[in-house]
Amino acid sequence: MLKEVMEYLNPEPGNNYIDCTLGGGGYSKAILGRLGNEGKVLAIDLDNLAIANAALTLKLSIANHQLYLAHANFKNLSVIVKKYFTADARFDGIVLDLGLSSAQLEDRARGFSFNLTGAQLNMNFGGGITETAENIINSWDIKELAKIFRDYGEEKFAYKIALAIAAERRIKRIITTDQLVKIIAGAIPKRFQDKKTHPATKIFQSLRLAVNQELDNLRGALPQAVSLLKPGGKLAVISYHSLEDRIVKQYFRQAARDCLCPPIMPICQCGHKAELKILTRKVLRPTAEEVLKNPRSRSAKLRVVEKI
Ligand SMILES: C[S@@+](CC[C@H](N)C(=O)[O-])C[C@H]1O[C@@H](n2cnc3c(N)ncnc32)[C@H](O)[C@@H]1O
Repeated sequence: MLKEVMEYLNPEPGNNYIDCTLGGGGYSKAILGRLGNEGKVLAIDLDNLAIANAALTLKLSIANHQLYLAHANFKNLSVIVKKYFTADARFDGIVLDLGLSSAQLEDRARGFSFNLTGAQLNMNFGGGITETAENIINSWDIKELAKIFRDYGEEKFAYKIALAIAAERRIKRIITTDQLVKIIAGAIPKRFQDKKTHPATKIFQSLRLAVNQELDNLRGALPQAVSLLKPGGKLAVISYHSLEDRIVKQYFRQAARDCLCPPIMPICQCGHKAELKILTRKVLRPTAEEVLKNPRSRSAKLRVVEKI
């Protein structure tokens, strides 16, 4: 949703931005292209490959002081910013394009895709995250497994799949994506297997979220991002599933209200003041044209706010 994000951010020469999710560098590149010689972008990614790739491509086309590349977790946004800017630095725009990049999905060694056979069950974005899907699948107890499948995947057959995993791992360690896909497909009754969606979709999503603690990272980053904006600065978040979007929506709604007291209170006791203005009253979705060009964008949801 690059076009829509750029319309909202409207980067101007001399302004400063943070791209919390560098990935293939599409957003950073587009922003840098509008900043003239003075504006700066701090681009962050947990994945060292994304950082190395940007160092080889993006960084070569601009002045050195304009792009800072941070191999780090955006949940530590305030600390990361202090490494590159003064303590009082405030930004004109911040973007979070959540989830994983196409390069990560296609990388067999990462095991994010249920379509790549024989890939190792890693699903780790890197950057200090030590958990792996293989460890979760082979060592978490049945209840813990079922809980992440339910909470992060909204999978109806969570417990049944967890039981099937536990039965299989007693015989043989589960190390590859296709071993796991086979177990999932065997545990979900055929009549509940949707023709359009792969039966392993929700389990792979829940494992990835658990390995990288993605929802906690997002919850941690949002208030830091808001406090790093200048008045009039914009925060754009693109999420790819309902769990992320719910966190973003609720946080924005709360931060855009003047009082958070329960409705029965006649007078405000909390003193909460709105920090944000919501610019996307309704969530924005990609155009049919974008979905055609990039089918992975079909679940994208964009919300944008402005700091008051
Ligand atoms: C959807 S991709 C971003 C694509 C990017 N906007 C582009 O133009 O190519 C998401 C990226 O965010 C990174 N990421 C996910 N969680 C992160 C976190 N907590 N901290 C830093 N980077 C993260 C992933 O490694 C991935 O490269």
